[in-house]
Amino acid sequence: MDFENKDLQNDSFTEEVSLDSVSDETADCAAESTEAGAPRPLLEVKHLRKTFPLKTNLFGKVTQELVAVDDVSFVLNEGETLGIVGESGCGKTTLGRTILKLYPSNGGEIIFDGKDITNYKKSEMRSIRTDMQIIFQDPYSSLPPRSTVGDILSEPVLVHGIVPKEQVRDYVLDLMDKCGLRDYYYERYPHEFSGGQRQRICIARALSVNPKLVICDEPVSALDVSIQAQIINLLKELQRSLGLTYLFISHDLSVVKFISDKIGVMYLGSMMEFGRKEDIFGNPLHPYTKALFSAIPNPNPDVKMNRIVLKGDIPSPANPPKGCRFHTRCPHATERCKTEVPVYREYESGHFAACHLLEGDAQTEAEEYQENQD
Ligand SMILES: Nc1ncnc2c1ncn2[C@@H]1O[C@H](COP(=O)(O)OP(=O)(O)O)[C@@H](O)[C@H]1O
Ligand code: SF4
Ligand SMILES: [Mg+2]
Repeated sequence: MDFENKDLQNDSFTEEVSLDSVSDETADCAAESTEAGAPRPLLEVKHLRKTFPLKTNLFGKVTQELVAVDDVSFVLNEGETLGIVGESGCGKTTLGRTILKLYPSNGGEIIFDGKDITNYKKSEMRSIRTDMQIIFQDPYSSLPPRSTVGDILSEPVLVHGIVPKEQVRDYVLDLMDKCGLRDYYYERYPHEFSGGQRQRICIARALSVNPKLVICDEPVSALDVSIQAQIINLLKELQRSLGLTYLFISHDLSVVKFISDKIGVMYLGSMMEFGRKEDIFGNPLHPYTKALFSAIPNPNPDVKMNRIVLKGDIPSPANPPKGCRFHTRCPHATERCKTEVPVYREYESGHFAACHLLEGDAQTEAEEYQENQD
């Protein structure tokens, strides 16, 4: 298979022009929020690991497991958007759910808003549950069909006592307005709406409890391209007005490029590269990142694409390659890559990558190795 993964190459998404034209000033949201002082970390993930058991023996001991998230570390500052990108199955959703503690982790630490929540029990999570919310990919299945929009949005506000009971209706109507939902939708049911409107309802529901962090798991992947742009702009506008922090998961690099301040590139459960958007796009370090970028469709037909075609299929996460996980598909792989796991290092301020090629004389060694192979 060449690098034809449809998930990562939504060829029809070349909406940067229209996206850019709508609300680019919001991209500076994080920068503005930090001008007054140093950026404040809202979420710190350190060496996070999440495995799923595949086989157990007679005594219930796990004999085979799938490592969905392996040694992932990053810092997400308040008011920023971190885009997590990678092919389907690389562990993006698992990462988001583990951070939210919907899945228990198997190693590492999660520091949220200054608190180490790694070992928080359900009862302890209740105190911060409203601070972390999630928006799912599928706005069709994530809304209860028999409740009106008003009820759907009022319920969390009532349960968590966000405002006094008599103010709930006004609070919800105001929230609906912020999310671009007309007031008469209050009495309507989810099935009466299109995918884009439903996703607005899901966004309003997530925001109804005043969260600090919103994990957006492929929030526009199920929507038409024109609607994607509207929802992304809504998310940006809400971030600016409410000071939200986003972990934005997507397989679509064009969307991630548009919305993110920082980007993390994942492959088979591991973070391959992480950094500020400008650094990741201006100076991609990792061969996998370079291959992904080379596959982004260019709206200008006169620009020739120098696409890097990756060989082979994505290996199974249940049986990942030894050494560098990417070595079975990497055009620069050497013998060392087959046995030695590359260290995830900071190569310029805030710009991390895991690749032997980036270390000292490794580039020359790799070139010599490739020449000998040819
Ligand atoms: N509940 C689960 N039980 C077992 N395996 C899972 C479960 N959830 C995800 N996985 C596996 O973990 C890997 C990562 O999945 P996922 O996080 O959904 O990837 P992505 O969101 O990047 O597509 C995949 O191989 C998937 O099959
Ligand atoms: S460590 Fe080796 S196989 Fe892995 S990305 Fe770098 S050159 Fe490629
Ligand atoms: Mg997913």
